[in-house]
Parts: sequence; C-alpha cells; structure tokens
Amino acid sequence: MKILVTGGAGFIGSNFILYWMKNHPQDKIVNLDKLTYAGNLENLKEVEKNPNYKFIHGDICDGKAVGEAMEEIDIVVNFAAESHVDRSITEPAPFIMTNIVGTQILLDEAIKSKVKRFHHISTDEVYGSLELEDLNKFNERTNYNPRSPYSASKSSSDHLVRAYFTTYGLPITISNCSNNFGPYQFPEKLIPLAITNLLENKKIPVYGDGLYVRDWLYVEDHCRAVDKILQKGKVGDTYCVGGLTEDINNLSIVKKIIKILNANEEMIEFIKDRPGHDRKYAVDWSKIKNELDWEPQHSFDEWLEKTVEWYKKNSDWWKRVKTGEYQEYYNKQYGKL
Ligand code: NAD
Ligand code: TYD
Repeated sequence: MKILVTGGAGFIGSNFILYWMKNHPQDKIVNLDKLTYAGNLENLKEVEKNPNYKFIHGDICDGKAVGEAMEEIDIVVNFAAESHVDRSITEPAPFIMTNIVGTQILLDEAIKSKVKRFHHISTDEVYGSLELEDLNKFNERTNYNPRSPYSASKSSSDHLVRAYFTTYGLPITISNCSNNFGPYQFPEKLIPLAITNLLENKKIPVYGDGLYVRDWLYVEDHCRAVDKILQKGKVGDTYCVGGLTEDINNLSIVKKIIKILNANEEMIEFIKDRPGHDRKYAVDWSKIKNELDWEPQHSFDEWLEKTVEWYKKNSDWWKRVKTGEYQEYYNKQYGKL
C-alpha cells in the first residue's frame, strides 16, 4: 500500500506518519508538505532514512506538484491545512486558499490518479457552538454551523469532499475530530502554549472567563481512528471522533498543568476574549465505536502529564519552534505577556 499524507510535517500529520510506519511497516508513505510555520521535519527524524518514507516539499494548491506526488498512490490522507483559529481571525486568506482551494486541487488529482480512497481530516468545529448547559453532543447528523474563518474553510472542504463522492464517485471518507493534544503540537495552541510558557516562567493567557469547553483527545487515539476508517470505514461516510473528557473547561486544564509543573495559579492571566469564541464542543463518537470498534485508549489526566513530560524533555524542539515567525505572531497576539 502506498499512502500520500499531506501536511505530514505538522502536529497530527507527523504523529500519524510515525504511528503508521510503526504499525504498518510494509507500507510506503509519501509526505507532501509546504513547510509553513507549522511544518517541521524534525518531527520525522525517526523515519527520514527509512526507504519506505519519502518527503516532497510542495503546496497542495499546486496541481502539478500534487499530480506528481499522487503517482501510484493508493490512499490519500489529507491533513494539510491552516489550523489555528486565532490566525484565521487575523488573516483569513491563507485558510481559504489552503483549506478550500487546496482540497479541491487534491480532489481533482485524486480522480485523475484513480486513488482507492481519499480520507479527509476535519474538525468538530464545523458544527458550531453548544451552550454550556446543553447536554447534546455533535454527531454525524448535526447541521454545519461554522462560526470562524477556520471552521468555515474546513466546512467548505468537507462539502467539496462529499460533493466529489456524489458527483464523480470518488471513494472518500471524512473524520471530524475534536481537539487533539500530545507531542509535536505547535505551541500556539492552548495546551503546549500553557506548558511551554510555564517552563519559561511566563504567564498563561486565558481568553475571557476561561469557562470555554473543548472535547480533548490524545493524538495517537486520533491516528488509530483514521487507521480504523481506512481499514473498515464505509466509503462515502463521515465519522465523528472524540475523547473521554466531559465538559472540562480551559481554566481547569490550565490549573492541571500548573499543578503538574508545581507552579502557582498567579501565572494565569485573563485576557480579552477571542471574537466569536465558540462556547463549547462535545462529540458523540458512538458511530465509530459501534461500527468500527474504535474508542479512545488514553485518559486525559494521565496523558496530559505525559505530554507535559514530553515538552520538558524536548525543550530544544519547542525553543527552536518558538523563535522567528512565531515570536512575531506571539507579540502581536498577546503583547507584553
Ligand atoms: P498543523 O498546523 O500542526 O499542521 C499543518 C501542516 O500542514 C503543516 O505541516 C503545514 O506545513 C502543512 N501545510 C499547510 N498549508 C499547506 C499547503 N498549502 N500545502 C501543503 N502543506 C501545507 O495542524 P494540525 O493540528 O496537525 O492539524 C492537521 C489537520 O487536522 C488539519 O486539517 C486540522 O484542521 C485537523 N484537525 C486538527 C485538530 C487539532 O486539535 N489540532 C483537531 C481536529 C482536526
Ligand atoms: P486552541 O488550542 O486555539 O484550539 P481551538 O480554538 O481550535 O479549540 O484553543 C483551545 C481553547 O483554549 C479555546 O477555547 C481558546 C482557548 N485559548 C485560551 O484561552 N488562550 C490561548 O492563548 C489560546 C491559544 C486558546
């Protein structure tokens, strides 16, 4: 089997490549990545010399590069995206280009190359926002209601992927997963930002009242869900993927990290809220459990601790990542914090 992974130098994509090459060592992986600020080949050091792994530096918006990368490919797994909500608020254009136009270009080339499966990685954010007291969870039948440029661009890409199934018969599957955490996550996202700021003795910026709720999943569980969908998923179907947390808010997560690192809660700094901030996400993953026998294996508390350990041990990785472009972004986003 030969798999094209797009965005394989990012957080989830690189974890997926490491997971796949460990669990399916006979398969070949081609990683097509533009290496934006979020792409980092250091994540893939472990496999870079493996003859079954090949990296191509390229943009999913470049039809020629995509066409070449797709030669003899059986399966495409599309992780490539602009992925950070705050950046989508400041500058939506790259989100439209990569997440929508890039997906359309991949789909066109997938048809030409007659791939056996096009799996699209999406997010629970396409479903909008729940009220804190709402006991409902998002599922595969929930109406789309994106509220940020990021989630609107991901929603558009999901619609395109389904349209290519209906119109052209492209064998697709989609997964809409909740917030991931784990190694190699870029420190602009809440959990690695909180950990690395504390390790640098800097305050943790918490938006608004901090009572916003996300559904959290350890990244390896997400990789295993994609594996199940590729092996046993029904072509044309969507699968919601989520974690074991029940209504855990940002403030509680930050306090847990402070406790793990023996720091002081005075390190929390409440700052101006994100515009259009979605209050709550919760995911009902019973379809993938019942149909594909997948469920999360990593508990939040234990793997949050292990994630903190990973960032402690790999300070070279995040210190390099936190310089340059990221430093400029951070200063613009958080001022003197
Ligand atoms: P990330 O920002 O860490 O990585 C994105 C990767 O895509 C980077 O390596 C980047 O260089 C690459 N990329 C960006 N634009 C590209 C382009 N035009 N052509 C080729 N490569 C390009 O993102 P992530 O957190 O790993 O997310 C991966 C996917 O999973 C995204 O589609 C995202 O929407 C989805 N997702 C993320 C989460 C999460 O919690 N992080 C949850 C659910 C779904
Ligand atoms: P984030 O990691 O950006 O993921 P997403 O917005 O895609 O869910 O944010 C997770 C939650 O943490 C979200 O409610 C926003 C909040 N947050 C903060 O309070 N402070 C921060 O500095 C960041 C980056 C996020």
